[in-house]
Amino acid sequence: MGSIRFDQVNKFFGPKKDGLKVLENINLDIAEKEFVAIVGPSGCGKTTCLRIVAGFEQPTTGTVVVNNRRVTGPGPDRAVVFQHFALFPWKTVRQNIELGLRNKGLPREERSDLVAGVLNLMGLESHADAFPHQLSGGMQQRVAIARAYVLKPEVLLMDEPFGALDAQTRVVMQEELVRLARVNPRTVLFITHSVEEAVYLADRVVIMTRRPGRIKELLDIRSVREADNWSRFSKIEDVMDQESFVHLRTHVWKSLREEKHEGRGADLSIGQNKN
Ligand SMILES: Nc1ncnc2c1ncn2[C@@H]1O[C@H](COP(=O)(O)OP(=O)(O)OP(=O)(O)O)[C@@H](O)[C@H]1O
Ligand SMILES: [Mg+2]
Repeated sequence: MGSIRFDQVNKFFGPKKDGLKVLENINLDIAEKEFVAIVGPSGCGKTTCLRIVAGFEQPTTGTVVVNNRRVTGPGPDRAVVFQHFALFPWKTVRQNIELGLRNKGLPREERSDLVAGVLNLMGLESHADAFPHQLSGGMQQRVAIARAYVLKPEVLLMDEPFGALDAQTRVVMQEELVRLARVNPRTVLFITHSVEEAVYLADRVVIMTRRPGRIKELLDIRSVREADNWSRFSKIEDVMDQESFVHLRTHVWKSLREEKHEGRGADLSIGQNKN
């Protein structure tokens, strides 16, 4: 449950002949409960990849298959968390989290049990009746993650989910995500501009070329971690100066830098929190 497969995916926006080619020949197999991070220059097609898996966009050619079913539209097996929390400002935390369950047609009692469980899991109980504007950015993102989690999707699609947070809150949220992954493993496709975040959180890291985005490298972080005896469950500050972590981080940085400097039209805005 929760496997994702990209098979020869190409994506153009506009007419195929003189449209914008955004993705080129993406092939990728993600196993169930695997955590895959995508990094790449701004505009290379990361969000487009994620939107195709979510079913919000169709590939121009090729297919995306989730759980052996070809993706043709959104579905309850996949949930998306964006950089900007996209909460309904006029609904409380509880109501925001409950909405997807309502849409699924679950009875009131079941909804309230599920919401209570996820409020507890995310440490949001004391904020259940607050409105989004009354919460900090970190808390709002917690609600957005809770809202995705409560639906028990097999696949969690996260597009720079921590991009709008300050550095300290970001680390707290990363640790929170690791904790959730332990309690409740899911397949995660995670886009980030933070190289550290990718190497710390992911089992594998996909490095994309500049547009049209192709897969430039696929790094197996898990095997390096295991060989060097650190894990996502270690504190990030304990991992940051491990030799293998530093090596991986430098490798990813260099690879991304090549994409910025090669050829014309390269996009220099990598590392900024824009979506
Ligand atoms: N609906 C659309 N119509 C036309 N062009 C689009 C559409 N969506 C995205 N694009 C273009 O496709 C390219 C890839 O966009 P995408 O959002 O996937 O990039 P990204 O890698 O997520 O970038 P960033 O890191 O800045 O978020 C960009 O040039 C963008 O302008
Ligand atoms: Mg994007």
